[in-house]
Amino acid sequence: MGYFITFEGVEGCGKTTQIKLLSDFLLNRGLQPVLTREPGGCPIADKIRAILLDAENKALSPLAELMLYAAARAQHVADVISPALIDEKIVLCDRFSDATIAYQSFGRLIDRDTINALNFHACQGISPDLTILVDCDPNIGLERARKRIEASSGPREERFELEALEFHKRVRAGYLQLAADEPDRFLIIDGSDTIEKIFALISAQVEKRIPEALRAFC
Ligand code: TMP
Repeated sequence: MGYFITFEGVEGCGKTTQIKLLSDFLLNRGLQPVLTREPGGCPIADKIRAILLDAENKALSPLAELMLYAAARAQHVADVISPALIDEKIVLCDRFSDATIAYQSFGRLIDRDTINALNFHACQGISPDLTILVDCDPNIGLERARKRIEASSGPREERFELEALEFHKRVRAGYLQLAADEPDRFLIIDGSDTIEKIFALISAQVEKRIPEALRAFC
């Protein structure tokens, strides 16, 4: 099997910048990482993403939202993540199953058993080897995310950015709780540091953790 790295954090924490830097870093070392994201990552899941993030869909119920995330994940795992890991690739995914616990359980307050059951089916036995949590104060993250949306000419994917600050605070607390529960899998990074400093920490950890066998294969 390959090696599965996920990036998590609240809106505007800087994880998308960091995942791209890590992908370039691995490419420069002759590895061929698969860079993907959730929700989305393949054509059918991208269609589900459009429904999930469309700010017009204010009426989406929490349970329907949860099931759409799970459906998008099931398709993404089947089409992209699982084949890449079987092919011994390093997979870099911008959000995965932890996001569903942080957003739909801590954020939306759906009970954890329901979420675990859906994640269990959607993930099809796959779980991250390393999860990089870019921790950030939601006040700062939301400000950044809103500026990015204003500057973008694409679709306004802002259904979550429009949520109250309290929601985002619960999401951050949820991520920190998940990281405390699994300290070996999670690497917590302070998102208020500079892009360079954050990347230096991430690349050092990734170099240390990627199994030798995988390097040799790639
Ligand atoms: P992004 O802004 O990182 O592209 O993520 C899209 C949004 O989807 C973000 O607000 C977090 C949310 N999300 C969930 O609520 N549950 C999930 O399972 C995932 C993957 C994302």
